[in-house]
Amino acid sequence: MMSSHRHGSCPVYANFDPLAKSFLDDPFAVLASLPRETPVFYAPSIDYYVVTRYADIKSVFLDPETYSAAPTQLPLVELVPEAAQILLGGGHKPQPSMVSVDPPAHTRLRSPTARAFTPERVMQMEPRIRRTINQLLNDIDPSSPFDLVSRLTFPLPATMIFSFLGIPERDWSQLKEWCGHRAVLGFGRPTPEEQVLRATQVAAYRRYLATFVASKATVRDDDLTSALLAIHDENPGALTHEEISSIVYGLTFAGHETTNYLIGNLVYRLLEKPERWDAVVADPKLIPSAVDETLRYDPPIPGWRRVTRRPVTLGGVDLPEGAKLFLWLAASGRDASVFPAPETFNLYRSDTSKSLAFGLGIHYCLGAALGKLEARLALEALTGRFPDLRLVAGQKFSFPPNISFRGPQSLWVQAPQDSQMR
Ligand code: HEM
Repeated sequence: MMSSHRHGSCPVYANFDPLAKSFLDDPFAVLASLPRETPVFYAPSIDYYVVTRYADIKSVFLDPETYSAAPTQLPLVELVPEAAQILLGGGHKPQPSMVSVDPPAHTRLRSPTARAFTPERVMQMEPRIRRTINQLLNDIDPSSPFDLVSRLTFPLPATMIFSFLGIPERDWSQLKEWCGHRAVLGFGRPTPEEQVLRATQVAAYRRYLATFVASKATVRDDDLTSALLAIHDENPGALTHEEISSIVYGLTFAGHETTNYLIGNLVYRLLEKPERWDAVVADPKLIPSAVDETLRYDPPIPGWRRVTRRPVTLGGVDLPEGAKLFLWLAASGRDASVFPAPETFNLYRSDTSKSLAFGLGIHYCLGAALGKLEARLALEALTGRFPDLRLVAGQKFSFPPNISFRGPQSLWVQAPQDSQMR
């Protein structure tokens, strides 16, 4: 990939496009084709500066005063006025949730959420996660190949996060659909007609959540939304119903697509080289490392966004105020100055805790423990039930057309008959 011209002191890669099919299919091949000496470059295809080096991304995450989180959820392409109007009508604020606001607004939302989203509450989920995995796997007929995405990786996190929030089961499939619209609208490149259609769906999603929070307020239960409402009761001005609805809006999405792709990437990376799968089957103590190594090597959120609040130099490049940054998290996991032999998927690595897959600093992922627990338990169950699981040969993989969430959209596997009852 050649730099076609310069943007101030910054190289420009005119043909770098994270939404191009070739990129979606294999972003790591694109990464490998970039010259090493350009840690920051400008990509006109998305109008963002791309940041690739671990140390630079880390410094951005740790400096919220210089780098605002404002663009994290903004539509990547500017919406046509009709679509923007529809969103506003549904109560969708330009700054839609915790992950995209800076202090003090961020602290106002993060503190009560962290108070309600306790490690104990996550630990209590464990039996329910195991039960759900077993039910989903019991429904599979392993005598023929099956798609692990539709049978496990997609329904599991959705079931867990929606029940965790206390959302009635009858509405889960609708919510899953709304989350799909939200991914395209915020992180893809929809046409104007598509924007209007998807904005209409996101506005309905917003309205649904406002009604849901209002009805939860009258019928409480042992769920996270009720825990947030209890915090509201202590001091209604400190956490409003509208803010609770915005938190639930954040969690329904964050707790769902991310973990789906984490488990998909995890199983894919193990089965891609069957000896990796076999090593985990032989030694289940490797399961947590397999999850961590997947987060480094093939993270479910490969890119995240920030914007500069003042002129600043990053990676040797002078950036103006208002420069939009695409933090290429997937590239940071392949940074050889932090992870020796980064192109090797290594189940015995001891440095994966440094990975930036969950961000860092004040916005560090609130659901990291839950997401990793779901992935760990899913792999435990799969390796236990299907020790000889293999990929169906010759299948073509496709990935969602957006810049921030990546995992296989289907993953066909088969379990040889003679091994299933071991
Ligand atoms: C399992 C895969 C997951 C990955 C890779 C992931 C990754 C991330 C990343 C990169 C951020 C942004 C950090 C930043 O801006 O500095 C984030 C924020 C967040 N994540 Fe996750 N996440 C995952 C799962 C979850 C789950 C399961 C939940 C909830 C149940 C969750 C809830 C959140 C929330 C609420 C935030 C915003 C925190 C804030 O702004 O203070 N995530 N996550």
